[in-house]
Amino acid sequence: MPAHEAPPAAVGFDLAAFSTDDPASPWVVVNKARPVTPNGYEPADLVYPDVPNINHQPMRQETATALVAMFAAGKAEANLDFSVLSAYRSFSSQRRIYNADIAAHGLAYADAYTARPGRSEHQTGFAVDIGAVPAACSLAACFGDTPQGRWLAANAWRFGFLLRYPADKVAVTGYAAEPWHFRYIGLRLATRLHAVGVTTLEEFFGLPGGE
Ligand code: DAL
Ligand code: ZN
Repeated sequence: MPAHEAPPAAVGFDLAAFSTDDPASPWVVVNKARPVTPNGYEPADLVYPDVPNINHQPMRQETATALVAMFAAGKAEANLDFSVLSAYRSFSSQRRIYNADIAAHGLAYADAYTARPGRSEHQTGFAVDIGAVPAACSLAACFGDTPQGRWLAANAWRFGFLLRYPADKVAVTGYAAEPWHFRYIGLRLATRLHAVGVTTLEEFFGLPGGE
């Protein structure tokens, strides 16, 4: 589908309300085909929300506010506890992680799970890897079967988050399933995606992604 043509699920929705190119926009689409531009981008308002944060990584203020509300709702509604495993990653930390993945598991594995430097939405400060407390299945496929993983998959949209790498969209996103990786996109877009049943930003905006 050409990028200029509104996908059916977006008809009647103002697709231009926020940029999909600007890394400071909550609708930015970053993937293998769409690097963060400029590649040295750093968010201006990184903060550390008052939640368990295993690797002590910050996130955008807007992401943090929504995350705190989501963790509080998970506790109040289902008695679940969560932690942050990873959030903002600089260009250089992406390079370190990607190279370490290649060294440990080989190139094919690295490209299935880890963005090349400058192509991770973690650089925007809008992406958060979430874990269970007590820890269970951290950064593993089985996180999706934990009570925390199930609750997040069902409820993240209510707080403006998207389960960014669904198991059935590997060809669209370019990444293997990551039930722990949530992307803040804001309430307006998250509510729309939920209502129309579209699960990837690439499909909703008609943009390229997986390679
Ligand atoms: N694991 C995701 C794809 C990242 O590296 O941003
Ligand atoms: Zn992630």
